[in-house]
Amino acid sequence: MRIDIVTIFPEFFSVLDVSLLGKARTSGLIDLGVHDLRDFTHDRHRTVDDTPYGGGAGMVMKPEPWGEALDSIIDPAEHAPTVIFPSPAGRVFTQAMARELAEHPHLVFGCGRYEGIDQRVVDYAATKAEVRLVSLGDYVLNGGEVATMAMIEAIGRLIPGVVGNPESLVEESHEGGLLEYPSYTKPAVWREREVPPVLLSGNHAAIARWRHEQQIERTRSVRPELLPPPALD
Ligand code: ADE
Repeated sequence: MRIDIVTIFPEFFSVLDVSLLGKARTSGLIDLGVHDLRDFTHDRHRTVDDTPYGGGAGMVMKPEPWGEALDSIIDPAEHAPTVIFPSPAGRVFTQAMARELAEHPHLVFGCGRYEGIDQRVVDYAATKAEVRLVSLGDYVLNGGEVATMAMIEAIGRLIPGVVGNPESLVEESHEGGLLEYPSYTKPAVWREREVPPVLLSGNHAAIARWRHEQQIERTRSVRPELLPPPALD
């Protein structure tokens, strides 16, 4: 998968060199390009923002550098990429969305700062690519960088080959609609706390049943809205 990021903080993404995603880059599973929006400005101060038309607080990102950045990334000869603008005004990012985006060959993340990007950039991008506004959740970040990082991690680990053991993707929270069951490792007793005996029983059916019950109980307790509505009788 090809991933391009446009940002005024390219150094933010240096952490993508480490861990599983770093390995995925080295092995060629993920081809990452980080682009400094200021490289597409032409004034001495490398200006990327200006005051909003109509007034109001804060600054808006100017369209010109964004247009040039997107033109440099989107190759009209290639299949149109999917351009994601992280925004609290977007659709909320979910595991299902991560799964779907993991199948796209080319993602472009446009990280806005300040009060956002001039809307014409989004409208222009939509003539060249599939465009989505995506929110990490119902809270406000200072910009799109942290949201982009979270989405790339969630999407990247679903690309075949990135996570060594694909089975570890199957049983986790949000795959299958329930939260993950609690996990334990050795020692069997730690600070007088015992591992639930069923996990030491060797009875695989009983273990599977216990884990499923734990998933339901956890989900009921912290995320009841994820459970199917009770059947009417
Ligand atoms: N930018 C600022 N807040 C955001 C959020 N909640 N999700 C995505 N991008 C954002």
